[in-house]
Amino acid sequence: MAPADIDAVADIFAWYVRNTVATFEENPRTRREWSALSVWLGGLDLPFLVAEADGDIAGYAYAGPWRAKPGYRHTVEDSVFVANGRTGRGLGRLLLARLLGACAESGARQVIAVIADTGEKASTALHEAFGFTVAGRLKAVGYKHGRWIDTLLMQRDLPLSLIAEDVTGPGRSDPPRSRKQR
Ligand SMILES: CC(C)(COP(=O)(O)OP(=O)(O)OC[C@H]1O[C@@H](n2cnc3c(N)ncnc32)[C@H](O)[C@@H]1OP(=O)(O)O)[C@@H](O)C(=O)NCCC(=O)NCCS
Repeated sequence: MAPADIDAVADIFAWYVRNTVATFEENPRTRREWSALSVWLGGLDLPFLVAEADGDIAGYAYAGPWRAKPGYRHTVEDSVFVANGRTGRGLGRLLLARLLGACAESGARQVIAVIADTGEKASTALHEAFGFTVAGRLKAVGYKHGRWIDTLLMQRDLPLSLIAEDVTGPGRSDPPRSRKQR
């Protein structure tokens, strides 16, 4: 993510923090926190991608370490957010496809998605579309906006062949662009 993208990324996330339980954060991240996250992930050779649509940053995706202990070094957790009002147009698909390829290049072998189970199907369906399967459910581990929320753990492996493979899945014409920046 380029410094110029930080405001847009922060705004996309802040909307979900304030208005949804898709994230268990209760306060939006500051620009400084986003910047630090981007630098940290870059130092780990992990991707932080943004997607552009109509000249705007309309979504982002990154992968972070699943756990800090070194034995987990080949396992990452993904995070994909598309701007409110820009969903349902293929951006999530584009971002996750590119993210998985970049994760494979970075040496990741397992990707985990931690999905707040809110009854909203988009995230689960997106991950299923890319071969993620349910690895487990953590019951009532989240509490936000006055409700207890389960998280669904979804997982897929990244064969080495994914580096060269087209992982965009069943296609869309004229996809939005994504770019990887450090
Ligand atoms: C989940 C999210 C990233 C999906 O992004 P998106 O741009 O709307 O998704 P796309 O338009 O690329 O759709 C990709 C696939 O996801 C599934 N999907 C997307 N929205 C869906 C919905 N509302 N209901 C069911 N399936 C849905 C479909 O399988 C779709 O593929 P198809 O259109 O070929 O059938 C987006 O809804 C979002 O940012 N949600 C809030 C944040 C979040 O929950 N992030 C995931 C946590 S890691």
